[in-house]
Amino acid sequence: MSDSRATLDRNLALEVVRVTEAAALACARLMGRGDRNGADEAAVVAMRRAFDGVLVRGTVVIGEGERDEAPMLFIGEQVGGGSEHDPEVDIAVDPLEGTNLCALGLPNAMAVVAMAEKGNLLHAPDCYMDKIAVGPSAKGVIDLDKSPTENLKAIANAKGVYLEDLTVVILDRERHHKLIAEVRKAGARVKLISDGDVSAAVSACIDGTGIDCLLGSGGAPEGVLSAAALRCLGGDFQGRLIYKNDGERDRAKKMGITDLDKKWALNELAKGDVMFAATGVTTGDLMKGVRFFKGGAHTHSIVMRSKSGTIRTVEGEHHFDRKPNYGW
Ligand code: FBP
Repeated sequence: MSDSRATLDRNLALEVVRVTEAAALACARLMGRGDRNGADEAAVVAMRRAFDGVLVRGTVVIGEGERDEAPMLFIGEQVGGGSEHDPEVDIAVDPLEGTNLCALGLPNAMAVVAMAEKGNLLHAPDCYMDKIAVGPSAKGVIDLDKSPTENLKAIANAKGVYLEDLTVVILDRERHHKLIAEVRKAGARVKLISDGDVSAAVSACIDGTGIDCLLGSGGAPEGVLSAAALRCLGGDFQGRLIYKNDGERDRAKKMGITDLDKKWALNELAKGDVMFAATGVTTGDLMKGVRFFKGGAHTHSIVMRSKSGTIRTVEGEHHFDRKPNYGW
């Protein structure tokens, strides 16, 4: 397309932040109420509505599930208020990444959107993905085919630090017991998290978070969202899909994946010009959560583009009396 709006232009970044802000504001109202489904639904409804104001012709490729299991933001749903001159984009969403974190009032819950030109985000099925994520200083040295110990040695070497000084984030799951034991034996510091591996992957790219690496398996959709963020941040990521059964394998094939055991590199998971935005729901390693005040709330977001590499933090002050339609 020759029209200037045919690519992910930079003005879109602020429009996308409105979408993650709306989702975060809606579910933050339910923080700590123990209602993970209610919080997720509030985020989904608000995000879906906010997309109407974004001038793209978007297709949800990573979303809330299949059309028959998710009423909104399902895979294949068309979103965005764009017309024929606006860009056609792939959209990956997680309106509430860390539903348990929000329901329990724990750190690092956030609303997330990634966007790329049409055909440029992996259409990942809802299975697990084995993941490794690092920041720019260890780019190019990771390899999912190597052992955790070999990867940690390579990361420490690239960063010029002792392996014992690395902090590795791992989801605290039974399936990770062997991995955790190996990382501890190798001598690295371990941070076990209950949920939220997108936040952990992004944190590995940001100085000051104290996180050097994410290891272990988590959701494949979250893997694509992480890859989009790490493209923008100059980090590195590899992932391999893990299937629990033949049903998940069939699903992957139907989504167009031919090599089921492929080791996916960063720029295969999220290609071309990519945009990523996230708004904190609860305060965490990356962002402050939503803070309500009389008649409104403050939000804290990050938005970034792979093309420019610019990373913006956006502090929002929202006044509900002047803009009442925040999704509740
Ligand atoms: P939800 O917000 O969908 O609950 O996902 C949270 C999360 O912790 C992700 O960050 C992670 O990728 C995935 O769940 C891990 O899945 P599981 O809880 O099955 O180990």
